[in-house]
Amino acid sequence: METSRGKLLVLLPGLGAVATTFLAGVELCRRSAATPIGSMSQLGTVRLGRRDQHRVVPIHDLVPLAPLDDLVFGAWDIVHEDAAEVAERCAVLTREDRIQTESFLRSIRPRPGAHDPDRVRRIKADHVIECRGHRAVIDRLRRDIDQMKAESGASRAVMICTASTETLRGLPWFADDPADFERALDEDDPAIAPTMLYAYAALREGVPFANATPNRSIDLPALQHLATDLRIPVAGKDLKTGQTMMKTVLAPALKARLLGLRGWFSTNILGNRDGEVLDDPEAFRSKEITKIGVLDTLLQPDIYPELYGDLDHKVTIHYYPPRGDQKEGWDAIDLFGWLGYPMQIKIDFQCRDSVLAAPLVLDLALFLDLAHRAEWRGIQEWLSFYFKSPMAADGVYPEHDLFIQHAKLKNTLRVLAGEPPLTHLGLDYYGDQLPIPEPACPSKP
Ligand SMILES: NC(=O)c1ccc[n+]([C@@H]2O[C@H](COP(=O)([O-])OP(=O)(O)OC[C@H]3O[C@@H](n4cnc5c(N)ncnc54)[C@H](O)[C@@H]3O)[C@@H](O)[C@H]2O)c1
Repeated sequence: METSRGKLLVLLPGLGAVATTFLAGVELCRRSAATPIGSMSQLGTVRLGRRDQHRVVPIHDLVPLAPLDDLVFGAWDIVHEDAAEVAERCAVLTREDRIQTESFLRSIRPRPGAHDPDRVRRIKADHVIECRGHRAVIDRLRRDIDQMKAESGASRAVMICTASTETLRGLPWFADDPADFERALDEDDPAIAPTMLYAYAALREGVPFANATPNRSIDLPALQHLATDLRIPVAGKDLKTGQTMMKTVLAPALKARLLGLRGWFSTNILGNRDGEVLDDPEAFRSKEITKIGVLDTLLQPDIYPELYGDLDHKVTIHYYPPRGDQKEGWDAIDLFGWLGYPMQIKIDFQCRDSVLAAPLVLDLALFLDLAHRAEWRGIQEWLSFYFKSPMAADGVYPEHDLFIQHAKLKNTLRVLAGEPPLTHLGLDYYGDQLPIPEPACPSKP
């Protein structure tokens, strides 16, 4: 595979808490003032070969990822603040971290964003692209990408959408077919949301795209087909960080033991701008769908009706300003075991939203760029690990179990490095203690 040569431009539509925490973290790591905790691409390792060979290699030595020093950044936002102002307002970072990264953050000024006031209703937008019509906005975004590449000297780019959650509408008529999507652009169809425009502009500029938000954006099959046709890798949607991450760890454990579930009540309080935007019930619907879908797919109630057929799953988010970015998520889980005896589990996760999300943005940027250099295109299912609502091929259900996603990610990295994937079977360590039965003769048709 082609090695990483030259600078990689990371483009961020949405310069908010997640984006600025990511940016400051990369800068602090580059100066060796911080450790990239939470990042698989920076700290993760992969075992190669048998367990008795003790070959464990860092992921960044296994595959040719862009080094942090080669990253440069660009952004769009519908609010004019530079990254230092945003970081100060969001109050995620300590004062010391902000002072250390101030000049770097100050240099990242967003370009005016594509905006639809009906899609993001709780933010006072003062920095929007003034062109009229979808095609004109796309032309502007494509010119921005070109200019940012030229100004930063980058040889290539990736785009990670970190914009606010948009209000949810029904599935549009142009959802499936790229030709319909083009027609909807020509007709300035109001069902095309701004984050679809960023995705479309990225694809047309040959830029891999990941959707860190619950927005439809690249989640439309029409755009996924376009990505495949244009040979661009894409991934989404909605970063799996706090409560949903815990859910996709715990639910597979309960299911593995065939314990039943009667109810799963999840509630959150958060006070950042994301929480303020999600306070709009129609924006919350976008989030609710990515959060709720997880258990249904994971538990397979159609296959295990006696265990999961009667599950009451509720998710709520409350905007509570005193907490800022320090979200607290509670889960009350009602389960049952042998003979139907009931039990309960309670979780209280006192997390930091953007601190959990930032390293995922970094990994997605580096892995998508890797996939692009490997000439992979369309949906990158191996990146499911990062998402609440992972994309999957037509007719394939998405994989939500964090540990299967983790194995899939590492095996894919092995394959990309030309190494065999691991099955974790382990029978061959025991020789004729565990003889492997001959495969059954195929039955005659
Ligand atoms: N923090 C997490 O753990 C987490 C997890 C999963 C998903 N997300 C999603 O990531 C996104 C960003 O979260 P955040 O906490 O940084 O929110 P934030 O409100 O701090 O930042 C979002 C930014 O996007 C800007 N914006 C809105 N519409 C835009 C547009 N059309 N073009 C350009 N900019 C636009 C806003 O002005 C704001 O600066 C949200 O959609 C959120 O739901 C966050």
